[in-house]
Amino acid sequence: MEQLEFQGIPCGNQDGLYVVYRCENSRSGNYYFLSNDQFRFKLPKSPNVAETVMIGVANPHFLHIISIYSTVSSLKRIIAVDANHEQLIHFNRLCATVLQSSNRIDYLQRLFKVRFNSKAISKLNGVSTSKIDEVRGGVERDPYFLVEKEIWGNLHFDDECFWNTYGLKANVSDSGLLIQADTVGDINTYFATFLCCSRSDYEFWPFTAGYGSGFLQNEITFNRMKEILRTTPLYMLHADLSDIYSDLLLSNRYSPISVWCSNLLCDYFTSKNPALRQIIQVSSTLGTQFEPEFPEIDVVLLQDERTRIMLPKLIDNIKSRFRKWSVHTKNFAKVSNYIRGNKNIEIISVRSWFNADQGKSKLANTKYIMLDDFLVFEGDSTFSSIVVHILQGHGVPTENYEKVLLKAYSMSENLIILEHNRSSKDFVRQKIGVTIDEIRDILGMESFLDFGPGVSCDDRNLIMVYRK
Ligand SMILES: C[S@@+](CC[C@H](N)C(=O)[O-])C[C@H]1O[C@@H](n2cnc3c(N)ncnc32)[C@H](O)[C@@H]1O
Repeated sequence: MEQLEFQGIPCGNQDGLYVVYRCENSRSGNYYFLSNDQFRFKLPKSPNVAETVMIGVANPHFLHIISIYSTVSSLKRIIAVDANHEQLIHFNRLCATVLQSSNRIDYLQRLFKVRFNSKAISKLNGVSTSKIDEVRGGVERDPYFLVEKEIWGNLHFDDECFWNTYGLKANVSDSGLLIQADTVGDINTYFATFLCCSRSDYEFWPFTAGYGSGFLQNEITFNRMKEILRTTPLYMLHADLSDIYSDLLLSNRYSPISVWCSNLLCDYFTSKNPALRQIIQVSSTLGTQFEPEFPEIDVVLLQDERTRIMLPKLIDNIKSRFRKWSVHTKNFAKVSNYIRGNKNIEIISVRSWFNADQGKSKLANTKYIMLDDFLVFEGDSTFSSIVVHILQGHGVPTENYEKVLLKAYSMSENLIILEHNRSSKDFVRQKIGVTIDEIRDILGMESFLDFGPGVSCDDRNLIMVYRK
């Protein structure tokens, strides 16, 4: 698969998976300052050991979802996608605000452009926290209205700074900021609150920062969020999610993927924009099929609880969810973890694979090259990574194999050899493949040695990585 290019906001910490071109800035003041989605994560019984790719629409609650997900899996990359460019700019601003803030109260002050007095601070410190798996959002009634009101009675709001920062019309009231902005959900007048989400206490819907839940649950979750934003590759893409959805899944197909959909899958949005149904269709197919149908994507859709639609079990946020992968996918997931950079080739010797895949490697940012073409390939090109994909195991003679390895080694700083392991239970009798020592005799000591599983053994394939 070749490197994908998108419009959006280029960020400092990206890992080279995509190219992102900066969009023209827009400023109409029409976006969600805060969220009213509700979320409950069905924590799996055992934490996920593989790194997850988080994709999500860039509404403010996405930060909470990332925080909750990070309690069960480390994150490989985060991809925020929004059809509203200003929403994306706001999401970027929220990330920067988290990073600038020393603690949760400092964050709220910077976000709302307020200064709390000591009474407000003591009220905030006394707020009870939600469960680890929960994000607060719109409900008919919650118990936080009085405390919200007391906090608003004990602060100073800088309306000029708010307008200059957000370009949003906001009036301070005794229990929140009354904001007017056109939104895709047609809730164009709402209250922005620190923690209260109680519809019956307000004239309009409250949209909340969710203080006390998600990344604002406590100082540990807040600091973890800062660490995630500092260290995890982050992409901010301006697009209709349904347009780029398949590409996003395919380019991350060897990692578990979770997708934050907010309330986009409900009838209200899908009848306005029927293309959104493709998110359900593509996930339902790629997220449930199994060998001989590929890809077998491990994808789970996370939705706003208030409008959650039914989904096949394998792609739904349920406790017992377990996505099975065939041996082929498990092996490629291992290989793809060793790939670095965006100019990569995968050397294969089986013409029918090349034809079946229409000449496109399944690995991200990687092109297929047939062995014979590679052997006669001239010029001083180098590649970020070269994957040598089971050649001896498919009958390539030893002298050619040696030539390929030496040539590939000289053309890349990151050579990854995937080969049938002749010492494994799967191949020892038939004498197929190579041994670790045979490869070491050609290239010397590897940087990493790993094994890809078979059906009845864990070391069917050798994965040897040579990194300079
Ligand atoms: C569906 S809206 C709902 C807002 C929500 N109730 C909240 O609490 O923030 C969620 C996000 O989806 C974005 N969005 C709407 N349609 C989209 C689309 N087709 N592709 C990508 N993002 C979209 C909106 O801009 C917004 O940021």
